[in-house]
Amino acid sequence: MEVFIKPTYEEMCKVAAKLIADVVNTKSHAVLGLATGSTPLGIYRELARMHREEGLDFEHVTTFNLDEYAGLPSDHPQSYHHFMHENFFKHINIPKQNTFIPSGTTNNYRAFCQWYEQQIKDCGGIDLQLLGIGSDGHIGFNEPASSLNSRTRLKTLAESTINDNARFFENRDEVPIYAITMGVGTILEARQILLVANGKNKARAIADAIEGPVTCMNTASALQLHPSTIYMIDTEAASCLTMREYYDWVQAKKPDVPQA
Ligand code: F6R
Repeated sequence: MEVFIKPTYEEMCKVAAKLIADVVNTKSHAVLGLATGSTPLGIYRELARMHREEGLDFEHVTTFNLDEYAGLPSDHPQSYHHFMHENFFKHINIPKQNTFIPSGTTNNYRAFCQWYEQQIKDCGGIDLQLLGIGSDGHIGFNEPASSLNSRTRLKTLAESTINDNARFFENRDEVPIYAITMGVGTILEARQILLVANGKNKARAIADAIEGPVTCMNTASALQLHPSTIYMIDTEAASCLTMREYYDWVQAKKPDVPQA
């Protein structure tokens, strides 16, 4: 794993967007795994800017979102369908049929989840999966005590997640209790993972994910088993890391690393 600690949210988003743009530019039909929430907003803004000003081309890109609230129709203002359209897709040239987001309104969740997994396979798998992290260490909506082998499924949200996400709704009672989420096992199959986090309320979850034991109590810790994970975090989110100086040292030394 690689840990990059950036002084500001803006800088973190810039570097993360550059990594995503590199995949889009180098792979002829890149497949991106995408996240919602407040953390990736700056990344989507920067990618949209790159599209507008530098011609970053999404025409042959396919995307798979991690999750969607169960019960919210795609035009609901808090649905992740709406989020993705408003904050990213409408600002770039990606064809609508290339954007996959779990359905919040299917009448057969089990069949839908199997279909979603199959779509990912049929597209050749995810090249780069963008992840945020919950204050309880969740990735996607894989709450503590999720199986580290889990696949896309319907999941009950933890109370802490409902409380965290209540800020997006008019009142807490409106936050759905269930969501469809890619499983930890599904996420681990992506060829590259990019986890982004900012702010003090993520510091404990980040330290446990990077430096703690692999445990279902912090599902992000399963990324320790992935061969290519990048953590792009700001200084506040890095504030509980024990090995902080080492990560900075590694990044400072990078240009001198002998090439094979
Ligand atoms: C969203 C998702 C979640 C969020 C996490 C952090 O698609 O999968 O795991 O990444 O809840 O959310 P924010 O960024 O709002 O703190």
